[in-house]
Amino acid sequence: MAAEKLAGQVAWIGGGASGIGAAVAELFAAEGARVAIADVQVPLGEELARRIGRAGGQAIFTPCDVAQETEVRASIEQAVEQFGGLQIVVNCAGVVHVAKLDAYSSDDWDQLMGVNVKSIFLAVKHALPELRKNRRSYVVNIGSVSSFVGQASTPAYTASKGAVLQLSRSIALDYAADGLRSNCICPGITDTPMLRYHLSKAPDPDAALAERLRRVPLGVAMLPIDIAKAALYLACEDSSGITGTSLVVDGGYTAAAEWK
Ligand SMILES: NC(=O)c1ccc[n+]([C@@H]2O[C@H](COP(=O)([O-])OP(=O)(O)OC[C@H]3O[C@@H](n4cnc5c(N)ncnc54)[C@H](O)[C@@H]3O)[C@@H](O)[C@H]2O)c1
Repeated sequence: MAAEKLAGQVAWIGGGASGIGAAVAELFAAEGARVAIADVQVPLGEELARRIGRAGGQAIFTPCDVAQETEVRASIEQAVEQFGGLQIVVNCAGVVHVAKLDAYSSDDWDQLMGVNVKSIFLAVKHALPELRKNRRSYVVNIGSVSSFVGQASTPAYTASKGAVLQLSRSIALDYAADGLRSNCICPGITDTPMLRYHLSKAPDPDAALAERLRRVPLGVAMLPIDIAKAALYLACEDSSGITGTSLVVDGGYTAAAEWK
């Protein structure tokens, strides 16, 4: 049997109750990590922690609005208290708001930036005292293909994902000397509740998905596990030497401006 890649590691996963974050929690637990799932979706997060337990893994759910500093600090403290340390932070929480800029309110903008960007600042800030105790530690942030290219009718989301990539680089530079590696995964179209919500804004969601997939060379939506596998790679020594960069998992979406 292959050795577990995350044996002895503790991972805190922001936005871990659903979609990509849930896949990360399940994969990391299967690879031997003890995982703390932090999310606002309480019943979903609690059920995921139980499911991981039933599968033989170790997980706790900690209710947490990742945009609120006191909640993030308490959630990370709970993970450390429960599991005795912290080596890995994965920031998966995200929201999308579909509207053109002129239809946005200041509150819409602030709320999205709080969840998608400020959350990373808060999680890393409050995890750092623990992360620094390890010879090696890992921050994995979920950006998007929108970290690189524009996306219509989502000005705050697109701006937030550019910021996630740059923040990942900044963290990499400032804490490399502490043995911390920070990287950003940039998923393309991935079949999660967020994608389904985004598509529901179109008159015909199935047609909208088919139209979008025509621009994906592999022709399919990514699955949450595809992104989780990339997160696993960046959260262990399989990726030693890699920091301050991005890993695009998009079925080829950003590879070309035009293709047939
Ligand atoms: N699905 C895609 O096509 C796609 C593509 C590129 C990037 N992403 C990114 O992947 C990440 C995960 O999204 P997903 O597609 O799995 O969607 P999802 O909606 O299934 O998961 C997002 C999670 O974030 C949580 N969350 C939202 N606000 C929160 C808050 N204030 N505090 C704590 N948790 C909060 C939600 O409860 C949910 O569990 C996001 O950052 C998203 O922007 C998704």
